[in-house]
Formats: sequence, C-alpha cells, structure tokens
Amino acid sequence: MTSAILGTGSALPEKIVTNDDLAKIVETSDAWISERTGIRSRRIAVGETTTTLSIDAGRRALEDAGISPEDIGLILVATLTPDGSMPNTACKVQAALGAVNAMCYELNAACSGFMYGVQTAHAFICSGIIKYALVIGAETLSKILDWTDRGTCVLFGDGAGAAIIGASKKGIISVEGGADGSKGAFLTTGNAPLCNPYTKHEATNPYVEMDGQEVFKFAVRKIPSIVQALTEKVDIEINQLDCILLHQANQRIIQTAAKRLKLPEELFPMNLDQYGNTSAASVAILLDEVHRSGKIKSGDLIALAGFGGGLTWAGILMYWI
Ligand code: COA
Repeated sequence: MTSAILGTGSALPEKIVTNDDLAKIVETSDAWISERTGIRSRRIAVGETTTTLSIDAGRRALEDAGISPEDIGLILVATLTPDGSMPNTACKVQAALGAVNAMCYELNAACSGFMYGVQTAHAFICSGIIKYALVIGAETLSKILDWTDRGTCVLFGDGAGAAIIGASKKGIISVEGGADGSKGAFLTTGNAPLCNPYTKHEATNPYVEMDGQEVFKFAVRKIPSIVQALTEKVDIEINQLDCILLHQANQRIIQTAAKRLKLPEELFPMNLDQYGNTSAASVAILLDEVHRSGKIKSGDLIALAGFGGGLTWAGILMYWI
C-alpha cells in the first residue's frame, strides 16, 4: 500500500501583469525578462489573498477527487506568505470547506513546500494515521517583493495549487528531499526582529533578496540529482519517465536540467511564461494544468522536483492513477 494523488485544483488572481507593464515601474524590458527567464507575465493579487486562493484551489481539488470534506484528516498549507500567523491558513481553509475532522497546519519550505507537504501527507497516510489529506501550495509573493528592485520583482507571481492524497495500491514509489541551511543567505526575506520592552526596535525589511547566480548554479546542479536519486532508488531508468514537473523559476534552469539528464525538453511542461515563479504553488499549479488538459494519463510515470529558499529541495516519483 502507498498513497497517490487523487485530485488536483488551482486558483490564480485575475490581474495579469505583463513584462511591458513592469517596464513602466522599473527599468527593465520584455526582451531582458523573457530572454533571461522565459517569463512573459504573472498574476498579481489585488482582491485575492493567500487564504482565498488556498480555499479556491482546495475546493477544486476536493471536487476533482470526489472526496467529502469530512473525510480529510489533514490539511497542510505550504506557504511563505500567509496572511497572518494565527490562525494558520490551513485552519481558515478547514472552516471554509467544512473539513471538520482535519488536523491543520502550515509548513514553510519556500519553493519546495508543496513537495515537502505531499511527502508529509504520504507518511501520515502510509502509517495509517489518516485516510485523506489536502495539500495546498499558496503564495501572495507580491506583498514581500521590493517593487523598486528590478532584479527580483520581475521574477515572481501569486497563485495556489492543491492536491488530495489518499491511500492507493499504486501511486508514490519514491521520495527525495533535503536542505542546506549553510546556503540560506542566497535567498532570503526580511526577519521579524525582537520587539518588546527590553529590546531596541530594529529596522525591518520584509523583502525577498537573492543572489541570482548562486541560486541558478545550485538549481541546475540539484534538479538533475533529485531526478536521478528518485529513479535509482526504485531501479527505474530515467528514460522511462513520461513527464517531469519542475519548479517554475526559470526556463533556462529547466532547459539545462533536461540537457544534463539527456531527456527531450517536451517531457518538461512549463507555465512560467504565464505565471512567473509562484514558489510553493508552482509545481501544484502545473500539476493541475497537465492533469486537467489530459497531458498525463493513468499509468504515466511522473516526477515532481523543486528547489528554493533554505536552501531546500524535494522530489516525488509516482504513477498517475
Ligand atoms: N531588467 C533589466 N536588467 C536587469 C534586470 C531586469 N529586470 N535585473 C537585473 N538586470 C541587470 C543587472 O543590473 C545587471 O546589470 P549590470 O551588468 O550593469 O550590473 C545585468 O542585468 C545582469 O544581471 P545578472 O543578475 O548578472 O543577470 P543574470 O544573467 O544572472 O540573470 C537572473 C538574473 C535572476 C534571471 C538569474 O540569475 C536567475 O534566474 N537566477 C535564479 C533565480 C531563481 O531561480 N530564483 C528563485 C529560486 S526559487
């Protein structure tokens, strides 16, 4: 017995912001952004929040799986941009969906968060603690971007993706993950400093800061090694994979990974041109798209892999059921 993804959903803000729109607020161009990253537009939340996007994506995943909310034993929301810290986003999703029997918590593993979440749900299900889990990756990164920094604000977008995980004879066959906290300074957001009657008030900066080239080097080394490790663990040849869904940060990272794995680019669907990097939501949104468009079918062997702040990484190998 293992666990499998039984249904997916996603939700995106209505507002589309193109590269040309950004060129009106920072010194950049569509040519620079699209050549270096592949990104052409992104969705930016105006009325939506991390909570509302999570609820919408979660509801769609429940409908897709045909599971009642009462059957969910765990709701996990992977995010680094919650709307507040208490109650956590998963509790708000629980209330909105009526998933009255669920434990609810958030996890933050930055862009690897959805894969960390699915692995956690897999462990809960395989150990018999729960029957079904709702795992959501959701972000409104636009609220922690420095909109005067052209080096970061052009890269990210808002959105959410979700999956229902449940016990199954076929499904997840291999998982991989890790972190290297010693490289944490390459990709950060501002800290919440101590502020109480006994400390001095420190200046705060909530924004994403990044050493783009170091993150790029890390990603192109790590992504192929995740996919290799996932397949080697279960004696599967890499060329048996039907579809590889990578974190949607940069088209050049995905192309380099494909080349290093000696696999055709067609096996690596992309949507970063439309949504940019949506961190914890990225692989979940892509999975929902390939599932709903019929690009993946029952029996396909699918790898998910991501990397992000921490630095963290994670991957999952599974049969689509
Ligand atoms: N528009 C125009 N020019 C820009 C720009 C923008 N949006 N952003 C940066 N530049 C400029 C820089 O100021 C620099 O100018 P200079 O040479 O005069 O100093 C020049 O472009 C090159 O900048 P650099 O940062 O060296 O570019 P790069 O080739 O490394 O590409 C990234 C930058 C961010 C696209 C690339 O490093 C990357 O994708 N890294 C990985 C990031 C990532 O995936 N992060 C998320 C992880 S989850």
